[in-house]
Amino acid sequence: MKVLGIAGSPRINGNTDMLLAEVMRGATENGAEVTTIYLRELNISPCLHCDNCLKDGECNIADDMKHIYLDLEFTDKLVLASPLHFMGLTSQTKLMVDRCQSLWVRKYKLKIPPLRCNRMRKGLFISVGGRRMVGLFEPALATVKALFSSLDIEYSGSLVFPGIDEKEAIKEHPDALQRAFLAGQRLTED
Ligand SMILES: Cc1cc2nc3c(=O)[nH]c(=O)nc-3n(C[C@H](O)[C@H](O)[C@H](O)COP(=O)(O)O)c2cc1C
Repeated sequence: MKVLGIAGSPRINGNTDMLLAEVMRGATENGAEVTTIYLRELNISPCLHCDNCLKDGECNIADDMKHIYLDLEFTDKLVLASPLHFMGLTSQTKLMVDRCQSLWVRKYKLKIPPLRCNRMRKGLFISVGGRRMVGLFEPALATVKALFSSLDIEYSGSLVFPGIDEKEAIKEHPDALQRAFLAGQRLTED
């Protein structure tokens, strides 16, 4: 079983990086083959809304997104990690999400599988935010759910922690890293 982790924070070894690493460790212990991509290291253009993808569901922009399209295609489970930035996903993550428009076109306009085959895929969302308020993660979660459903990835839940702001603050949380490890195991059980 392949598990793809996408790290969307600009902060190296920050809170979501740590949570994602624990999820991947849990998946690895279950025998999964894991790959983690750090969006901050990649060159990804914004979607240009050129509408070229309307023809054939292919994006014409030549950049690192080409690797992510392939990784998405071949994975069984996706773990998307992004802290909140102004209530939403980070810019790095949103660039990647918007570039999945060509996959949206495949599903809703061309009526073909967005990831080429109809294999069952599942996705988990990981996030943290510095603030504490009701509904803190809802706006970001709405985007994640829209992405997953456009890619025919079943939403299998989220692991989110409010009140986590300083770098490595997640280490002080009583059970966050352990819950991340267990989430990685659960995701790879079937
Ligand atoms: C540009 C920016 C915008 C942010 N906006 C929010 C926000 O809207 N709500 C919130 O709870 N935290 C916000 N934060 C705080 C981060 O979510 C928080 O520091 C988090 O722990 C960063 O996670 P990371 O270490 O994985 O990057 C923001 C931080 C930055 C740098």
